[in-house]
Amino acid sequence: MVDTPHTPADPRQARKRPRSALRNAVVLGAGLAMAAAGTLTALSGSASAASTLGASAAEQGRYFGTAIAAGRMGESDYMNVLNREFNSITAENEMKWDALEPSRNSFNFSTADRIANHARSQGMMLRGHTLVWHSQLPDWVKNLSANDMRSAMNNHINRVMGQYRGQVHSWDVVNEAFADGSGGGRRSESPFQQKLGDGYIEEAFRTARAADPNAKLCYNDYNTDNWSHAKTQGVYRMVRDFKSRGVPIDCVGLQGHFNSGNPVPSNFQTTLQSFADLGVDVQITELDIAGSGSQQANDYRTIVQACLNVARCTGITVWGVTDKYSWRSGDTPLLFDGNYNKKQAYNTVLEVLNNGTGTTAGGTTNGGTTAGTNGGTTAGTNGGTTAGTDGGTTAGNNGGTGNATCTATLEESQRWGDRFNVQATVRAGSTSISNWTVNVQLNGGQSIQNSWSASFSTSGSNMTVRPSGNGTLAAGASTGFGFTVMANGNWNLPRVVSCTAS
Ligand code: G3I
Repeated sequence: MVDTPHTPADPRQARKRPRSALRNAVVLGAGLAMAAAGTLTALSGSASAASTLGASAAEQGRYFGTAIAAGRMGESDYMNVLNREFNSITAENEMKWDALEPSRNSFNFSTADRIANHARSQGMMLRGHTLVWHSQLPDWVKNLSANDMRSAMNNHINRVMGQYRGQVHSWDVVNEAFADGSGGGRRSESPFQQKLGDGYIEEAFRTARAADPNAKLCYNDYNTDNWSHAKTQGVYRMVRDFKSRGVPIDCVGLQGHFNSGNPVPSNFQTTLQSFADLGVDVQITELDIAGSGSQQANDYRTIVQACLNVARCTGITVWGVTDKYSWRSGDTPLLFDGNYNKKQAYNTVLEVLNNGTGTTAGGTTNGGTTAGTNGGTTAGTNGGTTAGTDGGTTAGNNGGTGNATCTATLEESQRWGDRFNVQATVRAGSTSISNWTVNVQLNGGQSIQNSWSASFSTSGSNMTVRPSGNGTLAAGASTGFGFTVMANGNWNLPRVVSCTAS
């Protein structure tokens, strides 16, 4: 049974969903992916191993995407692998400034639209790359005065984000603004930096938020993988500053271009987690790793596993479908060779995704600016009801063993014509726990189709959810699971009855 999901890219669906749900929707095409993997009929138990990258990542609450080039879309092998394996697309060059606005205020969206339309037709997500970058920037921008450049930058952001409003889940608002080397400072060759100074990045993010309040706004860069590098620290300080001052930023993109000059660092997960701890999502946005055989496969393993281990790592994009069209094809850095054969690295990535073991991404597709006011219910120790601010429901502390307590929250993450996904977060109380059980009340007519990162059983409209390898939590730590609800006309969010821990 295969149907086409309305991804968050579908503005019709986006409009139907409450702001709170948009704000915290998980980035995935789980329904499509699970359909492709043939796992839609499970009525209880955890999701089974998937056979494609996108399907497997979706079971982990994440997307697995690729960059594509519009010029290759006529090649059937290219399209077959794209459509089979991936559930998110980034335009490799077609959404850059030189492609979209080659002369001032004269926009050409036709090629980029082909990519966006393909993503939509396949139920795939779309990443936006990139709005403000010193490279692939037409000369007319470079020659503007400061004031003119500011207004051109804001106009470009408004027009491009307006064109893809409701389709792009995450935008690289500013790309590669930091210098390489030991200083950790800004890139001096950027005309934006030269004419507008440090403030241009903040201005770009503020403009972007207003242009599409539901898109995630990312800062994206390369050589920011190693936590001890000055460039990584420079970006970290900027994001920390933005978060402390309320500058709208939702995510950090780590490009992940690795070779002998920039090897996969052993502290990559530390880097991901450190950014995540600032309150932003992290995404691996342009992954490619030079090499071959087991070296390459192991390097891919390190990166993918690190993402799975960090709850706010919401997705991975590789920078191309096949080695033969890679921007550095001589390095053979991708998952499919020039004949579209799966490489050892592909098998390893799929295995890592299927093994999971990390936390389910609680990531968000559409980064709205403010919490919604849809009034979820919170049942605490005394079973009281409190108006929430994010919609969804929280329940906790209903029994359990000794001091072991937990809370659980639910939020709708994605909707199709007949079903919706729910993303749950389980958080331990003030002591560590080794097991949890969440009881969920379904609404009339609803049934559960599938789950991921948890097992479940149902009795009438009561659903009992138990961990799937993610039962142990440190004090205050959280994990996630998800499930798909067949709505049968009832689109109300199920309610958490209790979370018990031991
Ligand atoms: O389309 C023209 C073609 O008409 C012309 O005949 C040909 C002659 O050189 O050039 C073609 O354009 C090339 C374009 O790729 C499309 O193939 C450009 O020269 C070439 O510079 C461009 O390279 C792109 C590069 O960004 C530019 O900086 C790569 O494809 C693209 O993979 C790469 O992507 C970047 C990310 O955007 C940011 N992070 C780094 C990453 C890798 O460099």
